[in-house]
Amino acid sequence: MDLVHLEQPYRNTPFSGQHIQSSPLAASMGAEIVDVQLNELDDSAFAELKQALFHHKMIYARNQSMTPADQLEFTKRFGPLGTDAYTKGLPDFPDVQPVVKEADTKSKIIFGGGWHTDSAFLPQPPSVSLLRSVEIPPYGGDTIWYNSVLAYESLTRQMQALLKGLKVHMAAERVIDSMRRAVEQTKNMSSMTDIELDLDVEAMLKGNFHPLVRRHPESGELSLYVDGVYAVNIEGMSRYESKPLLDFLVSHITQEFFAARLRWEPNMVAIWDNRICLHRAFNDYDGHRREMHRTTVMGEVPLSA
Ligand code: SIN
Repeated sequence: MDLVHLEQPYRNTPFSGQHIQSSPLAASMGAEIVDVQLNELDDSAFAELKQALFHHKMIYARNQSMTPADQLEFTKRFGPLGTDAYTKGLPDFPDVQPVVKEADTKSKIIFGGGWHTDSAFLPQPPSVSLLRSVEIPPYGGDTIWYNSVLAYESLTRQMQALLKGLKVHMAAERVIDSMRRAVEQTKNMSSMTDIELDLDVEAMLKGNFHPLVRRHPESGELSLYVDGVYAVNIEGMSRYESKPLLDFLVSHITQEFFAARLRWEPNMVAIWDNRICLHRAFNDYDGHRREMHRTTVMGEVPLSA
């Protein structure tokens, strides 16, 4: 069976600007930005960095010396901070979300462990997300992203036409269900692995309806806005009708053809365009500590095709 049919070829070519140079991670998406300190970029270098981000969908830089305060300042250059729908934030920096799993913690679920796009249940999900690695296990704990523009483009015209115009109900049912199961003994939902939570469960369950084929406000690219965590139904359809379609779309997007997987080092910063890619964290490093700091940028109400 011909799973992928790309009318347009892979195009994750190196970006070369006056200030910003990139080295692609995979054919599908992702690139390392070389020889920069992100928090020292002047305005023209930052403008190029944004172009590189929209080109590669996910960019990362090694050896960044960034405090949580620097991370916040850097994030705000992309726009106002996004809504943190999950955590209490770091004690002195409530807008910096710690993503931590201690060496002695064993858990079936971890923050970001399912195929997702960040906080898609919000009316204005984050446009851009940033993750800074503080402590990394000696192996495991990678993050993998999938390019949902390529995934859309690889569908037949008939399928694209069928999907355009549909709206997907994004809600946090699965997250809340699995957290409830995980905390059955303690009867509280105040933490996930080692992260203190602050949840508005009612709003998360209510969620929002967003276009299933989404137009990027800057590049105009069309992508599949659907994931394995928050997409629960299609507007106007029964769950019985929509489930096979949603399952198909998630299996389609999460094929290796569209993926780029990052092996973290301490002091890396990854930045992704949350409108047009899915990602997940791997829960494969029991016995080792992992600490990341995450910030997000407020996105627009998703645009339809
Ligand atoms: C996230 O989903 O934002 C976290 C990803 C990770 O911890 O690798």
